Amino acid sequence: MKKLFFSLLLVAFLISCKASTTLVPLIIYDYSDLYMQDFMNLILENNTNDILLETYDSKNSQIIQNEIINDTLSENPPLLIVNPVDRLGVYPIIEKAKNLDIPIIFINREPLKKDLDLWDKVYYVGAKAEQSAQLQAQIVMDLFGGDPTNLNQFDSNNDNKIQLVILKGQPGHQDAEIRTDHVISVLEDAGFTLDVLSITEAYFFKDIAKEKMTELIDEFPNKIEIVISNNDAMALGAIEAMVEKELFIDVNGNGKIEHDTEPWIPVIGIDGIPPAVTKIEEGYLYGTVLNDSETMAKAINDLVSILLEDGDINSLPYHVEDDTYIWIDYQTFTSTPTN
Ligand code: GAL
Ligand code: CA
Repeated sequence: MKKLFFSLLLVAFLISCKASTTLVPLIIYDYSDLYMQDFMNLILENNTNDILLETYDSKNSQIIQNEIINDTLSENPPLLIVNPVDRLGVYPIIEKAKNLDIPIIFINREPLKKDLDLWDKVYYVGAKAEQSAQLQAQIVMDLFGGDPTNLNQFDSNNDNKIQLVILKGQPGHQDAEIRTDHVISVLEDAGFTLDVLSITEAYFFKDIAKEKMTELIDEFPNKIEIVISNNDAMALGAIEAMVEKELFIDVNGNGKIEHDTEPWIPVIGIDGIPPAVTKIEEGYLYGTVLNDSETMAKAINDLVSILLEDGDINSLPYHVEDDTYIWIDYQTFTSTPTN
């Protein structure tokens, strides 16, 4: 009896050891991406599971990411969370995971449908890029007064056309391609006449955007009426360049740009990351669209829990489209008053 008791105790101990050491790899495409830094932290903060999320930096290299995936798969994790470097290159990753029966949740960079259809244990949690462009276009329309036949004072050369520059993210990324095309088509469909001075690729990164914006200011002196950026990080880089080129001037030196009395040019981003919110409050960034990483982080954790429990994904508080996709809405950004 005593022997049985001790062996039961041992089994219980081994089970608890195993449970407490369950590691789920969370493989990020690049830690230096400002939005992904924030998103990763929210995924970790919202993790209420008894599992440990172990994060990895793919350093924007698919080769590095493939090595991380091979190494982590060899540890036989219960599942993988992957933010792919190359969203078009996930086919071999899915094949490997399928052979080992290890489910994958892809996040933020949307793989092709035909790849996700390779296996029923692959999921995608993300947002529809068209929606972010729609909300961004709405900010532009409101800014120019809403009437395409009679633009307001933001049409600074009074030609009733919007002279704009688009800062584009990584080519091939759904959020770069769709946000760019769609913001133009929504504005044109609403009757606005656009003069697209440049669509400049800055790969979602602030430093690249700063450099490219410096060149654009020289190329189009006094012409740019608005900068539409595929994300906040590039918008912040553009603003730094514009401050250096004195397109923004804090005349009274209070650290803020007063829109009525001080020089500025509207710059609009997407994401709603904390440094962008600060820049909105200071009057530098005109607006942004919330890429709701907090809700996505919760959805990812809920999906992890249900998969680990072998539960029914349709019992989640989110619609799971085609048993694969969880779509989280973008939100109009409204800043919370600081005082
Ligand atoms: C987008 C986001 C960008 C960038 C990119 C990385 O959703 O708006 O700022 O983080 O994802 O894949
Ligand atoms: Ca104009």
